[in-house]
Amino acid sequence: MVKRQVPNPTEILELMKFKKFDPNGKRRRLSGALTVDDLRRIAKRRTPAAAFDYTDGAAEGEFSMTRSVQAFEDVEFHPAILNDVSHVDMTTQILGGSSALPFGIAPTGFTRLMQTEGEIAGAGAAGAAGIPFSLSTLGTTSIEDVKATNPHGRNWFQLYVMRQKEISYGLVERAAASGFDTLMFTVDTPVAGARLRDARNGFSIPPQLSPSTILNAIPRPWWWWDFLTTPKLEFASLSETGGTVGELLNAAMDPSIDYDDLAEIRALWPGKFVVKGVQTVEDAKKLADLGVDGIILSNHGGRQLDRAPVPFHLLPHVAREVGNDVEIILDTGIRNGADIVAALALGADFTLVGRAYLYGLMAGGREGVDRMIEILSDQIERTMKLIQVSSVAELNPSHVTQLSRLERLPAPEFTRSRPAQA
Ligand SMILES: Cc1cc2nc3c(=O)[nH]c(=O)nc-3n(C[C@H](O)[C@H](O)[C@H](O)COP(=O)(O)O)c2cc1C
Repeated sequence: MVKRQVPNPTEILELMKFKKFDPNGKRRRLSGALTVDDLRRIAKRRTPAAAFDYTDGAAEGEFSMTRSVQAFEDVEFHPAILNDVSHVDMTTQILGGSSALPFGIAPTGFTRLMQTEGEIAGAGAAGAAGIPFSLSTLGTTSIEDVKATNPHGRNWFQLYVMRQKEISYGLVERAAASGFDTLMFTVDTPVAGARLRDARNGFSIPPQLSPSTILNAIPRPWWWWDFLTTPKLEFASLSETGGTVGELLNAAMDPSIDYDDLAEIRALWPGKFVVKGVQTVEDAKKLADLGVDGIILSNHGGRQLDRAPVPFHLLPHVAREVGNDVEIILDTGIRNGADIVAALALGADFTLVGRAYLYGLMAGGREGVDRMIEILSDQIERTMKLIQVSSVAELNPSHVTQLSRLERLPAPEFTRSRPAQA
């Protein structure tokens, strides 16, 4: 028989201790976000559909992106036991310097479109957390302003080679003069990928008002307030404006760039030189032979070629072939600190996050980016403790198995002759 009593009012009062209400709405919103997906949900509520979809979307059927995210979900960790993990060291050495955490912020174009603080929020948060920040050629904050925001931290510059090569080379010189320590040369964008969400939204730079944009703006007044009361949204380093993103990219990018350009750019750059958008083992080997400092395995967050290789699947093959010759950085699909731990275990020296950063930015400006870094950092630390490793260097392939939903069929070997074109 359970013993019963009359409810005691003081006990009831004790149960009714409510969490102290935080009058600061942004802080409340951000502290309630426990994952990057939570930040994404807040971002979606607060950002006009066209800007959110520009960030969240990918090319064509978005298979490159979906598969890359899924690849990280399909991971099995193999924890050790009875190791002392009271202290975990997440510091990582990358490209001649250190990073307090094993990830940095990836380069993203048009960043002030997502939220008006843009790159200033990203560079400031990266500097405060002791991780590298990457500025895109298509950035909306100048090289010098990024440096001023993150004067003692690590700044990396991402280069697109444009038809007017002098413009690109001028940017390389400015980045060097401002003390950026690494140049990342993006090689997966000879033309723009087909971002169908943008086409369907009639998205253009600068944004144009249509009846549906205005309707969509009504529940998002703060974004519009920020947009209209801060300096005009424009490229900091390019003069092109007007048109869809695809039109802009296609007008600006030079589709003829090749290995000669790579050699030329490299000769201009005094710091570390990495190539972003490597998608085969053969290209990784070729670049390692050329002696570049690093390669970034990336399918550009699925925004360029659809049905592209999944970087996380490519990673162990590349690590096996060139892991001792060149530093390997990985991006695309990272939404959780555990994804980063899995990548490090399978041979990545470092990782970059694109959308995770932008979801944080859209959810709460600088504080939102701080929160994103905190969420990923907590997840990395907890995962490392549960796997029972106490430093990044200890992570190795024995800690992870990649499970596969899509298996590659054996490639048939044959040759076929086709009649020559008349
Ligand atoms: C909105 C947006 C803009 C981007 N702009 C650029 C860019 O200007 N240059 C570049 O090399 N990569 C760009 N990227 C790709 C990122 O650098 C990175 O490769 C990608 O976001 C990684 O995938 P994730 O978003 O799943 O983390 C962009 C990505 C997004 C989401």
